Amino acid sequence: MGAREVGLPAEVRADGLPERVTIWEVGARDGLQNESAVVPVEVKLEFLARLAAAGLGVLEATSFVHPKWVPQLADAEELLSRLDFVDGVRYPVLVPNERGLDRALAAGVRHIAIFGSATETFANRNLNRTLDEQFAMFEPVVARARAEGLDVRAYVSMCFGDPWEGAVAAEQVAAVGGRLMSMGCSQLSLGDTIGVATPGQVEAVVGAVVAAGVPVSDVAVHFHDTYGQALSNTLAALRLGVTTVDSSAGGLGGCPYAESATGNLATEDLVWMLDGLGIETGVDLDLLVDTSAWMATKLDRPSPSRVVRALRG
Ligand code: HMG
Ligand code: MG
Repeated sequence: MGAREVGLPAEVRADGLPERVTIWEVGARDGLQNESAVVPVEVKLEFLARLAAAGLGVLEATSFVHPKWVPQLADAEELLSRLDFVDGVRYPVLVPNERGLDRALAAGVRHIAIFGSATETFANRNLNRTLDEQFAMFEPVVARARAEGLDVRAYVSMCFGDPWEGAVAAEQVAAVGGRLMSMGCSQLSLGDTIGVATPGQVEAVVGAVVAAGVPVSDVAVHFHDTYGQALSNTLAALRLGVTTVDSSAGGLGGCPYAESATGNLATEDLVWMLDGLGIETGVDLDLLVDTSAWMATKLDRPSPSRVVRALRG
């Protein structure tokens, strides 16, 4: 018996899955926004460069939010001014309001993401707005961004449960998501901010969003892995026709304004599953794992990604 080849899953295709998946890498934004120590801009720049070299085509780079609300990303201008943009890679940033859009435009950004909430409490805690007021804040942002030729993604948070309000109705998610999309956004990312979703619920929520008129090709999923469900939920979404999946290298992350939110689905864990299923991502798993192992030394704690630990632990 030959030695097992470590580091590569056996490739076995399964029916009903896409040929290719776009990974929307959020490590530099969702991953680092929750770090207790502010990560130096040089480390962020190297992180982004290494992620691009590993083949990731979408790197959510930072947020133009209020620096007092998220001090970890207060260096957004400096980061973008020093970033070595790689051809063919997109670098979206989060923008909540017109002040954020002004800053993003001044920094030369071409792709932005607004981020709404499916629940009243989280709209208040994350945006200092009521659920209804959030739309008034986003509308001029999307209109101006589109007029400038920018691409706009819309996030909805708390799509599968809210730590203050409990259950969230799929119809509520569809109503909020549909309203954000009707402003002129190109993609809707459904956020499981606190990682409580299970696969049947993914079917229900994606189904409600599609029934509200958003094509499944415009739907992305954004799972946090708090309860270990993120990969199962991703597989459920792929079977429904979703082809864009958000994840963060090394499983970094959380949301500073959502109690009990832990890291996102780890990109390595996602790539392992997609490689095994023979689904193309363009990502070099080995280079990616090296990047997260390096980042773990910078953050001074081991990566929570199972794949990173299995390959470099
Ligand atoms: P506010 O305090 O209501 O702001 O915050 P305001 O509109 O009342 O303005 C107050 C002052 O802040 C003004 O200055 C503004 O100019 C300034 P003054 O005139 O008093 O001198 N200001 C800004 N300065 C810099 N950049 C800005 C900006 N906006 C206002 N963009 C606000 C409202 C939305 C700004 C605030 O609540 C905020 O920044 N929130 C962001 C919170 C955040 O980033 N959360 C994490 C991202 S969401 C997430 O992680 C979930 C996701 O991953 C999906 C999932 O997992 O579900 C996306
Ligand atoms: Mg998130």
